[in-house]
Amino acid sequence: MTTQEEINLPFNEMIEPKLLRHRVVSPQLYSEIHKRSLDQGPQFWESVARELDWFKPWEKTLDDSNPPFYKWFVGGEVNASYLTVDRHANGWRRNKVALIWEGEPWSDGPKEVKKLTYLDLYREVNRVAYLLKEEYGLGKGDTMGIYLPMIPELPIFMLAAARLGVAFTVVFSGFSAQAVADRMNDAEAKLLVTADGGWRRGKVVPLKDIVDKALESTKTIRNVLVVRRTGQEVRMEKGRDRYLHEVLSKVPQNAYVEPERVKSEDPLYILYTSGTTGKPKGIVHGVGGYMTLLHATMKWAFDIRDEDVFWCTADIGWVTGHSYIVFGPLMEGATEVLYEGALDYPEPDRWVSIVERHNVSVLYTSPTAIRTFMKYGEQWITKHDVSSVRLMHSVGEPINPEAWRWFFKLVGKERIPFGSTWWMTETGGILITITPGSYMVPMKPGTNGPPILGVAANVYNDEGKPVPEETKGYLVIERPWPGMPLTIHRDPERYVKVYWSKFPGTFYVGDYAVKDKDGYFWILGRADEVLKIAGHRIGTYELESALIQHPAVAEAAVVGVPDPVRGEVAEAFVILRGGTSVRPELKEELVKFVRENYGPIAVFREIHFVNKLPKTRSGKIMRRVVRAVATGSEVGDITSLEDEASVEEIRKALQEFK
Ligand code: WTA
Repeated sequence: MTTQEEINLPFNEMIEPKLLRHRVVSPQLYSEIHKRSLDQGPQFWESVARELDWFKPWEKTLDDSNPPFYKWFVGGEVNASYLTVDRHANGWRRNKVALIWEGEPWSDGPKEVKKLTYLDLYREVNRVAYLLKEEYGLGKGDTMGIYLPMIPELPIFMLAAARLGVAFTVVFSGFSAQAVADRMNDAEAKLLVTADGGWRRGKVVPLKDIVDKALESTKTIRNVLVVRRTGQEVRMEKGRDRYLHEVLSKVPQNAYVEPERVKSEDPLYILYTSGTTGKPKGIVHGVGGYMTLLHATMKWAFDIRDEDVFWCTADIGWVTGHSYIVFGPLMEGATEVLYEGALDYPEPDRWVSIVERHNVSVLYTSPTAIRTFMKYGEQWITKHDVSSVRLMHSVGEPINPEAWRWFFKLVGKERIPFGSTWWMTETGGILITITPGSYMVPMKPGTNGPPILGVAANVYNDEGKPVPEETKGYLVIERPWPGMPLTIHRDPERYVKVYWSKFPGTFYVGDYAVKDKDGYFWILGRADEVLKIAGHRIGTYELESALIQHPAVAEAAVVGVPDPVRGEVAEAFVILRGGTSVRPELKEELVKFVRENYGPIAVFREIHFVNKLPKTRSGKIMRRVVRAVATGSEVGDITSLEDEASVEEIRKALQEFK
């Protein structure tokens, strides 16, 4: 569906940073430089990849003999743990702080702050790797699960697994038992690392209890390691569960585990993400290409320097944290902030206080966070000194020009680079952004900017042809790039079908976008049945499945509707089972049920009870129609509807709600 609809974006508003270190080029010059990078073909990436430390250099830059299963830097041997930890711990950065961690609880300041140098990190990663190898026998080809709050053990376990060539899958600690079980089963994980609990907004999230429930339906998990964090009593199953500190106490302080020489195209991790239908798909990322893209973007987008204090406010459980908390910044030897809890708890300015106390210089945050700060008001920012910040980006969803301007003024003092980096779980790292660390084009409020060098992005119509400027269409990536997925775990056909079949030979992203006359991209949002609630990627299908597990629900349709702070929230239309009476507390009960069974990141504007849902004659729910009615847009062609009265039903439900 491409349209000529009126798009109201500040295409012509150009703003240059006043900080003098950045080389600002005109969009025309940038596109020439960009074109030259593409003219070099895959070889363009060689100079970037060469800056990594390879155990063995690659023989072939890009193996494209079996599309779309492209392989980067074939023949090369490398290790992500070696690149992030050993290189710095064995060099002059050994006593440099790698992680500054702040925990919750928090009142008048953090109660716990830990600093780990690169040498500390090296020791911890080695000891954990030793444990995984010697005690649990894990090695190359195995998979393990990680379900931890934002504590230093989370990156440490990821790096320890990477050291052994063990593929890991991290489950975001805001997901519930079902999600944990599904992911462990699909990944066939042997070991799961969790904590007794994690702190969030003054409350304990009982992670171990959730794991106990999840493990009732897992098949492959044999052992559970439990980090003691919140200290409450938890059930420990004999022979299966052990506390980390107990087993680790037997590992020598100076344990060393040789980093496995893994192939460039071996899997580093599996990260599950939501798509249009079915259960979340396990996106598999390799090592060589992935680390190359992270190295490039840490330099180009973040302009990372040794003096910087880098802070990405995402959770490690999502791809942003994998790439720009764990692997990217540590590979560059940066000092970075890690925090447990929430940005605005216990006070709206917890985050500003973190910036101020640690002199954060590069800040990577989200539009939802920014809009939340806007809601609290600027006084929470102006009472702090944020002058350490020299560069900012946002990520996860489109940033509205108004929020961009507000943050640019208050934190950026209208002088520093501030971008919105577009990418997704599948791309591994940032692909579209302004790049203050290399050639930077002027900013525009809310834009993503041009693609980075070496990346061929475009906007297509339904026929797979590029659309004219300033016209809405589908975002695509026309050539393979380092950092692209290896496949979908255990489902290569689905990988081909979802990403490479709509426009054969081209990677279909699933976002709407427009490109302006300066070659800047403006990503407008998802073109499929995927929601972005506060930047969290959630399939409508998953919320529907969660709803219909409730005994009162017969059928459910979930769509996304705009929300001023969270970008988008869910709206559900539910048909109750015969005989269920609409009790006043039923809605609340359903919301609670979904949050418990799926995760608290599911936020509903409303749940409506209806008697009919718009369906095709073959019985498929037409979410497009539901969404159009719910958002008040054109309903369009409804000739395939089985019963037109169902549309009225939705309308009526919405009117009653208003
Ligand atoms: C959206 C998050 C506009 C987009 C890194 C994409 C964005 C989805 C931006 C991927 C941005 C991400 N501007 N939209 N700067 N960044 N998106 O997999 O819809 O959680 O398809 O990866 O987020 O979400 P995911």
